[in-house]
Amino acid sequence: MPRHFVSLADHTAEDLRAYLDLARQLKLYPAAFKEACAGRTLAMIFQKPSLRTRVSFQTGIFQLGGQGIYLGPKDIQLHRGETIADTARVLSRYVDGIMARVFAHADVLDLAAHASVPVINGLSDLLHPAQVLADLQTIEEKKGRLAGLKLAFLGDGNNMAHSLLHGGAIMGMSVAIGHPRGYAPDPEVVTRARELAAASGGSVLVTEDPREAVAEADVVYTDVWASMGQEAEREERLARFQGFQVDGALMALADPAAIFMHCLPAHRGEEVAAEVIDGPASVVFDQAENRLHAQKAIMIRLMGRR
Ligand code: CP
Ligand code: NVA
Repeated sequence: MPRHFVSLADHTAEDLRAYLDLARQLKLYPAAFKEACAGRTLAMIFQKPSLRTRVSFQTGIFQLGGQGIYLGPKDIQLHRGETIADTARVLSRYVDGIMARVFAHADVLDLAAHASVPVINGLSDLLHPAQVLADLQTIEEKKGRLAGLKLAFLGDGNNMAHSLLHGGAIMGMSVAIGHPRGYAPDPEVVTRARELAAASGGSVLVTEDPREAVAEADVVYTDVWASMGQEAEREERLARFQGFQVDGALMALADPAAIFMHCLPAHRGEEVAAEVIDGPASVVFDQAENRLHAQKAIMIRLMGRR
């Protein structure tokens, strides 16, 4: 098991299986884990806003007997020129783990390289692995399995698309990304996902045709068209992403028992129609809840009492 939780691609199927099994136990029997991180402190660096990640990590470490410290963009010295390396070295003298939400993925890698305590990626421009661990837990709860299922992600080839490619491929799923021209996922991530899928019996499809992507999918997933930091591109993206909204007509091409997923926050009327996200196929609030359980599993395994 890797020392950090930076990318799902650093993990084997056995590693992810261990996390998912522990997350399931944590959801079923939370009281059994009340002391699992007793006396432990998690530093939580946020260079971007957050509802789910911030509240679920802070609540999660508290429920395990530890504490979280929120460090917002103006709270620490990074914006005044203190290096990531020095921040990592100093925090390592005080705390037992560092969770970080950053713009450049290189910043999480830098933290991990210089911290002597575990580093957890709470979203970078490249990846969102904690979200996808919770998503895998949610899919397994709803569908009873992961391997052999088809997951379609529609929209921007962004951090969510990338971590879904990694996580789905490791677990033997067929992952299809449907994106508008010019918004393809990172080719390195796609190549890695294809290698992982070849080993697991899964597959990877990248297409500019949203209908091909969702055809007979068991899971239909989407995310905002303009991610945090891309606010200036919002109008252009709204125009270019027409035809990629997950609405009733697109859902009708998926498997009749397909579930709809979204990491949230959502924009109804943009990437998803209200009839879908607020309809019977939607599991978005179960996903949000599972952030708590999945991340408690990460914290126990990386910084828990032994
Ligand atoms: N899904 C997710 O990470 O939400 P927040 O940005 O609110 O943390
Ligand atoms: N792609 C989105 C995910 C938010 C959880 C973003 O980076 O803003």
